[in-house]
Amino acid sequence: MTMDSVVKPTIAVIGLGYVGLPVVCEFSKYFTIIAFDCEPKRVAQLKSNIDITETASYKRRNEINIKWTSDAFDLENANFFIVCVPTPVDNDNLPDLSCLLAATATIARYLKYGSTVVYESTVYPGTTENICQPKLEEYSNLKANVDFFIGFSPERLCPGDEIHSLVNTDKIIACSSSLGLENIHSIYHKIYINGLHLSSSIKSAEAAKVLENTQRDVNIALMNEVHELFQKDEIDTYEVLRLASSKWNFCNFVPGLVGGHCISVDPYYLINYASKMGLTLPLVTISRKVNEEKKNKILNIVFEFFKSKRISNPTITILGITYKENCTDLRNSKSLLLSEDLARKGYIVQLNDVKLIETFATDTIVENGLVTFEKLSKSDVLIICVAHDGYKRLKLADYKQIVKDNSLIIDVKNIISADMRSELLDSKINVIKG
Ligand SMILES: NC(=O)c1ccc[n+]([C@@H]2O[C@H](COP(=O)([O-])OP(=O)(O)OC[C@H]3O[C@@H](n4cnc5c(N)ncnc54)[C@H](O)[C@@H]3O)[C@@H](O)[C@H]2O)c1
Repeated sequence: MTMDSVVKPTIAVIGLGYVGLPVVCEFSKYFTIIAFDCEPKRVAQLKSNIDITETASYKRRNEINIKWTSDAFDLENANFFIVCVPTPVDNDNLPDLSCLLAATATIARYLKYGSTVVYESTVYPGTTENICQPKLEEYSNLKANVDFFIGFSPERLCPGDEIHSLVNTDKIIACSSSLGLENIHSIYHKIYINGLHLSSSIKSAEAAKVLENTQRDVNIALMNEVHELFQKDEIDTYEVLRLASSKWNFCNFVPGLVGGHCISVDPYYLINYASKMGLTLPLVTISRKVNEEKKNKILNIVFEFFKSKRISNPTITILGITYKENCTDLRNSKSLLLSEDLARKGYIVQLNDVKLIETFATDTIVENGLVTFEKLSKSDVLIICVAHDGYKRLKLADYKQIVKDNSLIIDVKNIISADMRSELLDSKINVIKG
């Protein structure tokens, strides 16, 4: 096979979300890019310089090299495809591969001899070769490793993290043909300056990605479990973590709500893959349950607090509704679920998210029912769910502005210092680490 894409790659990026957009921006510095998304609204926004994902690298791109499009016909000129479409779970926590299959069908229509398709979407082992490859072959009438190459390179982007950017994070690449792997390497090595790690099989690379996020989920579950235990005996979990971290091989994870599109989803891909192999993964399964339960543990703290008090029109404020700190992604937000549960119980719930408010226009703020910090009414319970930098800077006066005397602050992310805690206590405001 000749390798058109090595001689002069024209790269089509399929799916322009949190992952696809940074990929377009970085690759545009070296290559001609067809930036394709099936959602015309998203493409129109990107053309008008609007990025609702607030991707850091978005402004640093070579516009001359990019064709933004929602018209699949533009893929005609592509000879290297990078797939960045969502791979969520359905209501039963089973892998939902519908976007991946739709994107595969679109690519197959424009696949040519000598082209390469690299999947970057997170999947369970076997998906690329057993599910996507047959579809590409069937719809294109071409044969993998004879007429085109198929590869996998898991994305490791971490929204909100300005240190670990796309280009300075190590990248795994895999292909079922050594010539194809050389081809992918020749393009990817220009972008991923920290280094490329070659996988001997696509399956290993797929497995590595789901393992990375499953490991985080399991470790956070352990922290959530012991946090509840330590709390019962008034042991400060964060002091325990500080002490335990002085051992060279202790891994520092912290308790918290686990939402978002990756850590709370990818373990289900591994669980599903295991069941196809006739295995169950008890540890991974129970860890998912422990982390899903975290929201209810916070709810119970609130219920216990109100049980001991007679308060008319009890008001609760939640700080932080994105799934993690310093990003604007609301997918699978546990704060929003928490707020819905509290509202169902009849409490007045106010939501504030400093990152969303500083980032977006009024309509986004209104759409999500957010209240600006200045307009928050004093509440009986304040729950700090997300450690946005803006919340870490709050002072005693700020807290006193938004909570009543004799109120409770549930500091889920441990952002309130010991000194601030005792100052708040002096003002009859109790803080517990939720
Ligand atoms: N978001 C992250 O931080 C992150 C990190 C690592 C890996 N991943 C993985 O990367 C993949 C993409 O995630 P994301 O967060 O960028 O998703 P996203 O929802 O932000 O963006 C996906 C984009 O793909 C588009 N799309 C959907 N189906 C399409 C189709 N058939 N053809 C063309 N476009 C289509 C959507 O309109 C959307 O704009 C997922 O598998 C995810 O698990 C995400």
